[in-house]
Amino acid sequence: MATTDDQPYLLGLRLRGRRVVVAGGGAVAGRRVPALLDAGADVLLVSPEVTGSLEDLAQAGRIHWARRRYAAGDIDGAWLVCACTDDPVVNAAIAAAAETQRIWCVRADDASQSAVWTPASGLAGDVRVGVLSGDPRRSAGIRDAIVAGLRTGSLGARRGRGHRSGVALVGGGPGDPGLLTVRGRQLLAEADVVVTDRLAPRSVLHELPPDVQIIDVAKIPYGRSVAQEHINAALIEHAQAGRFVVRLKGGDPYVFGRGSEEVIACLRAGVPVTVVPGVTSAVAVPAAAGVPVTHRGVAQEFSVVSVHVAPDDERSTVNWPALAATRGTLVLLMGVERLAAVADTLIRYGRSGSTPVSVIADGTLPTQRTIVATLDTVAPRVLKDGIRPPAVVVIGEVVNVAAEIAELVRGMPPGAPGQPGLPGRAPAHRAGAEAQATAPETEQA
Ligand SMILES: C[S@@+](CC[C@H](N)C(=O)[O-])C[C@H]1O[C@@H](n2cnc3c(N)ncnc32)[C@H](O)[C@@H]1O
Repeated sequence: MATTDDQPYLLGLRLRGRRVVVAGGGAVAGRRVPALLDAGADVLLVSPEVTGSLEDLAQAGRIHWARRRYAAGDIDGAWLVCACTDDPVVNAAIAAAAETQRIWCVRADDASQSAVWTPASGLAGDVRVGVLSGDPRRSAGIRDAIVAGLRTGSLGARRGRGHRSGVALVGGGPGDPGLLTVRGRQLLAEADVVVTDRLAPRSVLHELPPDVQIIDVAKIPYGRSVAQEHINAALIEHAQAGRFVVRLKGGDPYVFGRGSEEVIACLRAGVPVTVVPGVTSAVAVPAAAGVPVTHRGVAQEFSVVSVHVAPDDERSTVNWPALAATRGTLVLLMGVERLAAVADTLIRYGRSGSTPVSVIADGTLPTQRTIVATLDTVAPRVLKDGIRPPAVVVIGEVVNVAAEIAELVRGMPPGAPGQPGLPGRAPAHRAGAEAQATAPETEQA
């Protein structure tokens, strides 16, 4: 039997199609089984009771579930056994049977009696990391540091790997770098060229190695902007020169982001493209200000509308009378400049002038700012307060739910997380204890 003084020999088990028996259906099994399935194992779960998610896996036919206590013979034919029942005597019996049959057995309740130790493992792109230090917490900490380093590129993900090519359209989220997806960060860490927008999370760019070429194609509303054709041409040109290009975009590439135009242009030029979805500002910016876009009994639907052209513009394809008739939430993007026209139109088609409206500028950023008004008052209020793009406008009763949430947050003790959307984040000009326990910053009209 192994002792804790032994030096483990680290292996990567290739389990596809191989039987793994998991005895016990609690939290430990709940963590192990999904990873075993990811490795393609043929999992037999033996336990009279299991967690809800394990039961789902059994019902979906992804694992075999023997709904009873462990019995002699259960591990016959297995390559690996995980003894994770809540009974040490049963775990010991399983481990002993496995030892006799020369089957590797992980004993979850007693590392000193376990033939196998499970490393703290993680995945960064195509790199699998496993750490064993003798102390599971320390191993997890080291694993996190390595995985984070690989994802941000600080551990040299670009060295020694097969060089990627083509273009990746990465949705960067609304601006807070914490809302960039793990996949997005991984690809960014491997980029040779990054073509970035004004609304992308630009603070991640400083993490990139100095040899990465950064091309700024910021499109400023009513200001300097780079034509879409030039952006497409830059993506194609760099990719065709053998460089891996990440097109870092704000929010989600396919939500009013012209991402599909870039994909089509690249594909027409024979350049392969990957699209990484992003967290769209249409939902995340309201959430960051404490505004849920749906709430049971209040709003069963929400519509996201681009107001880059006004309601009466002949190019508008939006059915404003239908939107005015619904009780659902309306989320407007690119709407600040044309808010008066939108409010007038909605009221004209029957929406009440007292409908609450929230306007959130610079959502998720330290400069985030929110005003609350009504359809009647919002346009002059935005002007008076100097609210500038980028901003998301939320129209509907959910704005009142936000007020309720804000009230509850205000009642939280100092030191509690910031607000439900983004714990701990507070607008830059609020400081100290107040900033840690803020309600969404709201100026009531
Ligand atoms: C061209 S659209 C791009 C939307 C983006 N693809 C998305 O999914 O979020 C730009 C608009 O998104 C909204 N927006 C993006 N980021 C924002 C932010 N951090 N705060 C407020 N509004 C934002 C604004 O309405 C802005 O005018």
